[in-house]
Amino acid sequence: MMSSIHLIVHTTHYRKGSEQFAVIAAIMQEELSAEYPNETVLLKPIFGKRDLLNIFSQIIESGDKIRSFHFIGHSGMYGPMYGTIEYPEQFSPYELRKLQIPFAEGGEAYFHCCRSARWFAPHFANLHNVKTFGYHNYTAFTKSKTKYQRIGGNVNPMYAIGCEGKKSHGWIGAIKKNLLGKGLEKLKVFEPTSESIDSTYNNVAGLYDAVFQDIKVREDEWSWISNHLPKSTEIDVLDIGCGNGALLKALSPMIRSGVGVDLSNALLDLARKNNATNDKLSFKPVTGPKLPLEDESVDLIISMLFRYLDWDPLMDEVKRILRPVVGY
Ligand SMILES: C[S@@+](CC[C@H](N)C(=O)[O-])C[C@H]1O[C@@H](n2cnc3c(N)ncnc32)[C@H](O)[C@@H]1O
Repeated sequence: MMSSIHLIVHTTHYRKGSEQFAVIAAIMQEELSAEYPNETVLLKPIFGKRDLLNIFSQIIESGDKIRSFHFIGHSGMYGPMYGTIEYPEQFSPYELRKLQIPFAEGGEAYFHCCRSARWFAPHFANLHNVKTFGYHNYTAFTKSKTKYQRIGGNVNPMYAIGCEGKKSHGWIGAIKKNLLGKGLEKLKVFEPTSESIDSTYNNVAGLYDAVFQDIKVREDEWSWISNHLPKSTEIDVLDIGCGNGALLKALSPMIRSGVGVDLSNALLDLARKNNATNDKLSFKPVTGPKLPLEDESVDLIISMLFRYLDWDPLMDEVKRILRPVVGY
C-alpha cells in the first residue's frame, strides 16, 4: 500500500554545522511524527548528492510518495551544497531538470538553508510543480523557533531559522540578531508558476560586490589559486563566472591579460567599474556554454562557480580556447 512520507535529509560533511544539522533534523522528525502520527517520517543523513538520488530512487521503487521534503544544510544562491568543502557538489542545471522526485499530490519542499529563496526555491517550485519554501537571508541555529536565541553546543531543542546575519547585513545585522533577537525571517513560500525565474545574480549584484570587493577575504580559494598560478607572468587568463571582477583584479599583477565572462550584466558593470583603469582586463557577457573567445587564445581558465555549470558543452569550449602547452 502506498504511504505518504515526510523526508528529512541533512548533510554530514559540507563545511561546519553538521552536528547541529543532525540535532535539528532529529527534532524536526519528532515534531513531524507528533503532527502526523499516521504517516512515516524518514530521517536520512547524506554525504553527497548521489546519496539523495539513491533515497529518491528507493522511494520511487517502494511506490510511496513524498508529502514533505526537508533539506537541512548549507546552500549557495544556486541551491544546496553536498560533499565537502574540498570537493563541493551541487546539482547542475541539467541534473536539476532531470531529478526524479516522487512528490505526492500537493507535496511541499522546504530548504532550511541560507539564501535558498533568492533563486533556488522559486526555480525548484517550477521544475517540480510543488510549493517550495526557503530563506532569503542566512540561517542560524537557535533555541527558539520564533526568535533568535544564541546557543552553544548541541542543545535540544534546536532549530534553523532565517535571520539577518552578520555576513549579509554587516554590524547592524549582527546587533539585531545577537542582542535584540530580531531580524527573524519567516520561510518564504513559492507556488509553481509558468514564469521563468531570473537565474542571474542581477538582483544581488550590489550586495555581492560589497561583500567580495577584495577576493583575498576568501582565504582558502585565494591561497589555492595564487599558489597554483604558473610562474610566468606572460599568461592570458579567462575567469568563467567572474562576478564583480575581484579575482582578475587581484591576479592582474601576475598575468599578461584577463577576460572575465558572466551571465549577470549587473555584475559585469561592477567588474568594469572596479577595474576601470586596468587595460589588461576586459569583461564580456555570456548566455550559455559558448564562450566569446578565439580558438587557442588563453593559457589558463579559472572558474569559481564550476558546480553551477552544465559541464559537457562547456568543456568542449574550454578545450577549444585553451592554448596547447608546449612540451606536452
Ligand atoms: C558565486 S558567484 C561567483 C563569482 C566569482 N567567481 C567569485 O568567486 O566571487 C557566481 C557567479 O556565476 C555567474 N554565473 C552563474 N551561472 C553562470 C553561467 N551559466 N555562465 C556564466 N556565469 C554564470 C553569476 O552571475 C555570478 O557572477
